[in-house]
Amino acid sequence: METKALDIRADADHAIVWRNDRLYLLDQRLLPGEEHYLELHAADDTAVAIHDMVVRGAPAIGITAAYGVVLAARRCYAQSPSGWRDLMAHDYSLLARSRPTAVNLFWALDRMKRVADGLSAGDPEQRLLREAGAIHQEDVAANRTMGDLGAGLIKGSTSVITHCNAGALATGGYGTALGVVRTAYAAGKIAMVYADETRPWLQGSRLTAWELARDGIPVTLLTDGAAASRMAQGGIDWVIVGSDRIAANGDVANKIGTYNLAVAAHYHGVRVMVVAPTSTVDMSLASGAEIPIEIRAPSEVLQCGGRQVGAGGVDAWNPVFDVTPAELVYAIVTERGVVRSPDRENMARMMAG
Ligand code: MRU
Repeated sequence: METKALDIRADADHAIVWRNDRLYLLDQRLLPGEEHYLELHAADDTAVAIHDMVVRGAPAIGITAAYGVVLAARRCYAQSPSGWRDLMAHDYSLLARSRPTAVNLFWALDRMKRVADGLSAGDPEQRLLREAGAIHQEDVAANRTMGDLGAGLIKGSTSVITHCNAGALATGGYGTALGVVRTAYAAGKIAMVYADETRPWLQGSRLTAWELARDGIPVTLLTDGAAASRMAQGGIDWVIVGSDRIAANGDVANKIGTYNLAVAAHYHGVRVMVVAPTSTVDMSLASGAEIPIEIRAPSEVLQCGGRQVGAGGVDAWNPVFDVTPAELVYAIVTERGVVRSPDRENMARMMAG
């Protein structure tokens, strides 16, 4: 993967860029210190970039994988204009193995594969590129709709806590949880956003704080362990988060620590709002117990900024998502509507609508 300077301002709404027949990703591992784009030429680069956290956040992973399919089709068609579809199987599987929890990845790959399978003779690239672009643009539109719906739930001026980064960087643009924050802030409803720093990748302190500060939205960092104490002091009406996968009963997988936050919120009478497009809902799973949880390398916990901080010879358990039971969630906001007190019935009703 090459580092490129693109002639666009590096910003959260341009974290995924298709330009000059290439895919460019803003390297989120380097933020906020450096703003660099990587140029990707093939599906294997793309899978590595997803696995290595160049791009992260469930919707952004799905969009990136969709563009990865375009790169795959280009290579396979060049190799065999009659057998490209069969050659693509390897690339689909590389992309599908990049990260396991965000269902948006599999949703986007299925959608791209359905289009590819339906194509007749000829070069598939332009048709697949249109589909990837549609996935990208639909995600931005869904975020805008969820921004309005979620902001509509917030009354008066309050402070909120968010966890990880569910902003423009994690999506096609605008953000899910941070989309609600943006819309609510513009309506004068948000006094302060408290962002958990989000160990071990620090998506909160590096990415959420970067995005919000650039937009002039007041943001204060918390260590993950400080959130309950901040709630106890009052003035926090909402915890607002995104999700990587929501099961049919409304259980929510999101960044590790979301469950802790929801338990603390319940104790303090703070409402939990989960903001996610329907591409994050997996109706094939009865409950959160069936959601595959990604376990990453112990070194991510034992080191910080590339420096060893854990005691030598000690192991670390590093699940990077957890499951918050539906009963701790006040509302799930999707582009199809708001599900209050999520359970099997009202999730099914929202998905059908
Ligand atoms: O490991 P990450 O950074 O990909 O985890 C991201 C999250 O947990 C986000 O909250 C989630 O994907 C929602 S993004 C709109």
